[in-house]
Amino acid sequence: MTSKPRIVIYGTGQYGGHVARFAVQKGWPIVAAFNRAGDKVGKDLGQVIGLKRDIGVIIQDCDTGNYEALKGKADIGVVAMTNQLEKNLPAYTRLMNAGLNVICHGTEAYFPWGNDKTLCNQIDALAKKNGVTFTGGGIWDMSRIWSGILLCGPCTEIKSLYHRSITDPNGQAQHAQQAIAHIGCGLTVEEFMQRGLGRDPMALSYKTIPEQVLWAQGYTITHTSSRLEAVVADEPVYSQILGETIPTGRVLGIRIVGEIETKEGVTARAEIELRVFKPGEVEHMFWEVNGLPRTRVRVERENSAHATASNLFNRIPDVIAARPGIVVVSEMGPLKHSELTR
Ligand SMILES: NC(=O)c1ccc[n+]([C@@H]2O[C@H](COP(=O)([O-])OP(=O)(O)OC[C@H]3O[C@@H](n4cnc5c(N)ncnc54)[C@H](OP(=O)(O)O)[C@@H]3O)[C@@H](O)[C@H]2O)c1
Repeated sequence: MTSKPRIVIYGTGQYGGHVARFAVQKGWPIVAAFNRAGDKVGKDLGQVIGLKRDIGVIIQDCDTGNYEALKGKADIGVVAMTNQLEKNLPAYTRLMNAGLNVICHGTEAYFPWGNDKTLCNQIDALAKKNGVTFTGGGIWDMSRIWSGILLCGPCTEIKSLYHRSITDPNGQAQHAQQAIAHIGCGLTVEEFMQRGLGRDPMALSYKTIPEQVLWAQGYTITHTSSRLEAVVADEPVYSQILGETIPTGRVLGIRIVGEIETKEGVTARAEIELRVFKPGEVEHMFWEVNGLPRTRVRVERENSAHATASNLFNRIPDVIAARPGIVVVSEMGPLKHSELTR
């Protein structure tokens, strides 16, 4: 990169706002911002993302916005609105047809093949037609995908991989209603099932973590499965985000179990928990390789909201430099910091 990436924000909520603040801090030009109709539209992006000053970018209604004006003026669109490829497709189409690369924060975008092959082919064709790159990014990049790949590096034999994590909703949900709606904090198991939380498509895309880690290392995926279950309190646990104690028998959050099989016989299992922590628990991602050598790694981090936005932001130069089409983060090499980018 010889010049600063010129970016467009599509979805000016929590994470679109994080990325925009990093860009302002680093002096990367923000060329335009889009959001669905509502009270953000027509306001200056700087005010909406909490900078308390105008930055000269008026948020446009994404359905009526001027995408022609982006041609030759912007390098990449940062899409941070929903997890689903299908719902995000209008954003991808508008940005890529204007000649922009796209990095998307939706969880299905990390490994589109593992979620929806038809849509994946459509996005790949769209990117190639426009000579641009499409990549899914965020917190899984370093802490789940690259940590798993690096752990396998020294192995001469691999039988299976195991990935486990616990994530605290305090880091990512903005308020109690979000924690209840997304992971069922404090509900009874019956309420959890009635609300359809056991079928959340966002959660089911977590199986693509071990899938991408195996695929990136040359394995041929033959079968994948995932299911979602409630994690139930076996003792009373205080929830900071709810501001109350969740009694024994109530839901602390969700556990996603993903299982992968390959033609070569190597298998992977992931158990991902998004839930209220018991006292003393620390958010972490864990990988174990059952092979030679048997190896384990545990990634701990503070401030997961900053971390997911900064993983997304720090990938931007790699996406701009990548070949046209869908290019997943495992093809791009380990993530590089942006400390020296000013
Ligand atoms: N990749 C990862 O590892 C990772 C990690 C954490 C979160 N995520 C995902 O990142 C996404 C963004 O999260 P967030 O916390 O920033 O959400 P958010 O605060 O709700 O922001 C989303 C923004 O997008 C706008 N929007 C929603 N649907 C839209 C549409 N169809 N067209 C145009 N704009 C639309 C919303 O508009 P309004 O003003 O109308 O609300 C809002 O401004 C979520 O899907 C979240 O689950 C991914």
